[in-house]
Formats: sequence, C-alpha cells, structure tokens
Amino acid sequence: MSYTTLLVDVDDSGIATVTINRPDKLNALNADVIDDLDAFFSRAETDESIKGIILTGAGEKSFVAGADIARFRELDGPSGRLFADRGQAVFNRIENLPKPVIAAINGFALGGGSELALACHIRIAADNAVFGQPEVNLGILPGYGATQRLPRLVGLGIATELILTGNMIKADRAHAIGLANQVVPAAELMGAARKMMGTILSKAPIAVALSLKALRVADRPLAEGLDVEAGLFGEACDTEDFKEGVEAFLGKRKASFTGR
Ligand code: COA
Repeated sequence: MSYTTLLVDVDDSGIATVTINRPDKLNALNADVIDDLDAFFSRAETDESIKGIILTGAGEKSFVAGADIARFRELDGPSGRLFADRGQAVFNRIENLPKPVIAAINGFALGGGSELALACHIRIAADNAVFGQPEVNLGILPGYGATQRLPRLVGLGIATELILTGNMIKADRAHAIGLANQVVPAAELMGAARKMMGTILSKAPIAVALSLKALRVADRPLAEGLDVEAGLFGEACDTEDFKEGVEAFLGKRKASFTGR
C-alpha cells in the first residue's frame, strides 16, 4: 500500500516506523495526511506483520506543527464540526489500536500535532521538542482531542493553563508534567523509541493487547474499570502464553511467547 504523505517502513521485528512527510510545511496535518493515517492504522489493525508502530515527523524541526492552517479559511460552523469529527475519528482509531503506538517527537508538536501525540500510547521527546495548544491564537479551541486527553494525562489545572494561554513548552517541562514519558538527545530519539518498542514486543502479545484495552477505560468509574480489568485478566489466563510465562518463571528460564 502506498501513501502520499507518509513514509512507512516495517522491519523484520514487526516495528513499523511511520513518518509524516511534509517537512516544508512542518508536517502540518492536511486532509491527505489524515486520510493516510486512517488508511495506515486501519491496515495495522489486521496486518499481522505489524506488531507495533513508531510515529514521527520528517526533518529535524517538527513532529507535526498542527492542523494545516491553510485549510482554515474554508471552515464555518457545520464544516468545522465535520473537520473535528473526522480528525477525532482517526485519532480514536490510533488510540484504540490493540498494538503499541509510540510517538517519537522530533521538534514542534503543536495543536493537532500535540493532539496526535496524545492519541499515541507513549510519547518520547527529543530535547528540541516543543509542545503547545496554540488554537486560541487563531480564535478556535482544540478540536482533535486536547480538551479531553490533555487533562486526563497532565491534570485539569495544567491542561487549562496550556489551552487558555496557548503557551509553548519545552521538552523538560513536558516531561515534568507527564506529557512526555522520556526526553532524549535528538540524535538518540529513534533509537530510544525502538528500544522501548523492543522491550514491549518481547512481552506476551495478548497480554500487551489486553493491557491496552484495560488502560483505555481508566477514565471510567472505578468499579466499572475494575470489572473490565477482571474480565480481561480472565481472558489472559486462558492463553498459552500465560502458561508459558508462569512455567518459564518457575523453571528459571526465559519465556518464549507465541502470541496464543
Ligand atoms: N499549517 C500550515 N502551514 C504551516 C503550519 C500549520 N500549522 N505550521 C507551519 N506551517 C508552514 C509555514 O506556513 C511555512 O510555510 P511557507 O514556507 O510556505 O511559508 C513553513 O511551514 C515553515 O514554517 P515557518 O513558520 O516559516 O517556521 P518557523 O520556524 O518560523 O516557525 C512555528 C515555526 C511552528 C512556530 C510556526 O510555523 C507556527 O507558529 N506554526 C503554526 C502553529 C500552530 O498554530 N498550530 C496549531 C494549528 S491549530
């Protein structure tokens, strides 16, 4: 499958590196990028050669500098609503993928770029990364999920500050508030993302998928979330990998998981 705005490379270990490739526009999200992300993540749901995804931006300056502001002149009330619905649907697809998705943030992650990173499961930032929700500067609010995902990740107070001021923050603050899981020198970004993905892919795949599923309901009422967790725990106990993991531990050997 080919994409007009994405570079996709799947290695032998099943790590797909997906690079948003509009560096002259700092990888801003136009309709083609949104369509390509939708197509890629739809494929990733069923393509067994893809085990995990690292999402990054082309060039050394930007992950994604936001939605493409050139499109904004056309938006009015009804089309703005559709614009937000479409982006949210694609980002929901990313968040709901039962395979790990790591954002490798190599520069600006602004507006829709920050929201794209928020929809990924883990965020690793280069030390030159800059995060922000500058929508208020344009007379709008975030429309691809930041008013909902940012407070869930960093708390309501800091999310409110970032969304109302539009201030940009550097990688060290993003790390301090829990927006970035890890900050590394820019030259080490992709290596760090691959290392973390390698660790995850060395675990039992069904356990990873079920963990992602349980984590998705972490914002539900506690009793409801715990009920989901218990159900998924039961599912995991029915797998061959569970038996293998326990036998390997008790036999003092390394587990060999098959994903069954
Ligand atoms: N949408 C469309 N084009 C964008 C863009 C966006 N979100 N962000 C950057 N670009 C384009 C610029 O228009 C410029 O295009 P040009 O060379 O054809 O003029 C190119 O990318 C390079 O950006 P430039 O502004 O020249 O780089 P800079 O280093 O001076 O500034 C930023 C970088 C990120 C601070 C600045 O581009 C910016 O503020 N972008 C918008 C961020 C934003 O508000 N995002 C949220 C949208 S909801």
